[in-house]
Amino acid sequence: MSHILSISLPLSQPTKEHSITNSKKIMLTVALPKGELLKNSIDLLQSVGLDFSAFLDSGNRQLQIHDPKFQAKALLVRAQDVPVYVEYGQAQLGIVGYDVLQEKKPQVAQLVDLQFGYCRMSVAVKSTSPYKMPVDLPTHCRVASKYVNCAREYFQNLDLPVEIVPLSGSVELGPITGMSEAIVDIVSTGRTLRENGLVEISTLYESTARLIAHPLSYRLNTGNLQTIITLMRKLMITKT
Ligand code: PRP
Repeated sequence: MSHILSISLPLSQPTKEHSITNSKKIMLTVALPKGELLKNSIDLLQSVGLDFSAFLDSGNRQLQIHDPKFQAKALLVRAQDVPVYVEYGQAQLGIVGYDVLQEKKPQVAQLVDLQFGYCRMSVAVKSTSPYKMPVDLPTHCRVASKYVNCAREYFQNLDLPVEIVPLSGSVELGPITGMSEAIVDIVSTGRTLRENGLVEISTLYESTARLIAHPLSYRLNTGNLQTIITLMRKLMITKT
């Protein structure tokens, strides 16, 4: 992650005192995803002048923090919940994987492809299975997934009726145990598939982290969020 632009943001509230006493001005709030995307998200925000690195401290249990200059606030939430906080306006900005946006279809503005957190959504089967393409799968077979909407839409578009089995994790166990013929799941390095004897037979889409915003806050420039969006766009341009 490059740190070419290190800028102090001219956000709306420079001090804690100011933020408490002036209720008309809203402090910019960013929803950040726990897990894989967190470190890169914090690095990126740091490169535009917002320091939320306290979330990376192993002893940290706080779920809401301010940056040390009291310019902005960050919420630490499950990746799937980032668009929820943005949709409801509790956060004006959020960072989340495109996979989550595809699954949830939230009413948020997708602003910038942040170019980290690459993975793909794939159909996979046991490497010993006779199915080489999704259309080879038997009609009404079972497909296990954490991404039930993506999976359903994909097989509907193929005009192949299947039973989607919703799971919360360790989806690879579906074909291993015989519960399902296939899975629809995220592949990043491919190691989990390999180590569980599964192979990809199709890719639904590729995913990276995205900057999202509450649509009305975006239009009204609440918390001066346009400044941070512009800086992030510039950073992405200098990376390409
Ligand atoms: C995700 C995904 C795969 C794995 C892929 O699972 O569901 O299982 O990562 O990564 P890889 O291609 O680099 O091996 P996650 O780590 O989120 O755990 P989960 O299965 O409990 O959801």
